[in-house]
Amino acid sequence: MNRSVSTMPRALITGASGGIGGAIACQLAVVGYEVWLNGRDEERLKALATAIRSSGCQARLAPGDLTQPAELTTVVEALGDGPLDLVVHSLGAFHLASVADTPLDVLDRQLAVNLRAPWELTRQLDPRGRATRDIVFVSTTAVLAPKAGTGAYTAAKAALGALAETLRDELADAGIRVLTLYPGRTASAMQREVCRAEGQEYHPEEVMRPDDVAAMVVAAVSLPRSAEVTEIVMRHRRPGTPR
Ligand SMILES: NC(=O)c1ccc[n+]([C@@H]2O[C@H](COP(=O)([O-])OP(=O)(O)OC[C@H]3O[C@@H](n4cnc5c(N)ncnc54)[C@H](OP(=O)(O)O)[C@@H]3O)[C@@H](O)[C@H]2O)c1
Repeated sequence: MNRSVSTMPRALITGASGGIGGAIACQLAVVGYEVWLNGRDEERLKALATAIRSSGCQARLAPGDLTQPAELTTVVEALGDGPLDLVVHSLGAFHLASVADTPLDVLDRQLAVNLRAPWELTRQLDPRGRATRDIVFVSTTAVLAPKAGTGAYTAAKAALGALAETLRDELADAGIRVLTLYPGRTASAMQREVCRAEGQEYHPEEVMRPDDVAAMVVAAVSLPRSAEVTEIVMRHRRPGTPR
C-alpha cells in the first residue's frame, strides 16, 4: 500500500452517531485525522460532520447498518482502496435480561452488533493490505466482573476482547497495534437506556464523559510506534473517594 497517495491519516469510527464514538471522532479530527463516520442515524452523522468541518477539520460520511452484509460492504467500498490508518470499533448495543429471559434471537442480536459486525468489518477492511496502523475495540468494564442480567452483552463483548487479542498476534508482524478499551459507565444514550432498564435515574454528571474516553484513545494512538498500549481500563472517579 502506497502511503504517499494520502495527504492526511484516515480513520474510520463506527458508533460515531453515539456518545463515545462521536467524541472519539471529534478529537481524532482535531489531531489531524480525516475521520470517516459510521452509524445508522445519517442525520446525526451529518450534524457531527458539519460540526467537525466548522472547526476546519475533515470529516466524511460512511453510514450503514453493520449487521446488514450489503450495507457493511457499501461502507467498506465508500472508503476506496487507499490506506486506512486507524479503525475504531465503537458501535454497540446493550440488553439487560437474565439468561433465563434471553432467548436465542436476543443473544444473536447482541452477537450481531457487538461481535459479528466488528469481526466482518475488520475482515473486509483488510488491515494488512490497507497498511492500517492502529485498531481500537471498545469493550466494557462489565466483562471484567459480569453482573446478573448482563449475560448476552458481556458474552459478546468478552468475545470481542478475544477477537482483539487474536488480531494483535496475527498482525504483529505488520506493525499493526490493537487496543482493547474497557470503559466504565459513560454518559450517552446507551447509559440512559441502561439506567432505565435497571430502574435507576440517569445522572450523566455521575459517570465518565465521552470526551474522557476519547482523550484516552487519542493518547494511545498518538504514542510513538516504539510502544503499544494493549488494554485500557477506565472508570468514573468521584471527587473525594479514596480510590
Ligand atoms: N456508555 C457506557 O456507559 C458504556 C460503558 C462501557 C462500554 N460502552 C461501549 O461503548 C461503545 C459506545 O457506546 P455509547 O455509550 O457511545 O452508546 P450509544 O451512544 O448508544 O452509541 C452506540 C452506537 O452504536 C451504533 N450502532 C448500534 N447498532 C449498530 C448497527 N447495527 N450498525 C451500525 N452502528 C450501530 C449506534 O448507531 P445509531 O445510533 O446511528 O444506530 C451508535 O452510534 C459501545 O460499544 C458500548 O458497548 C459504553
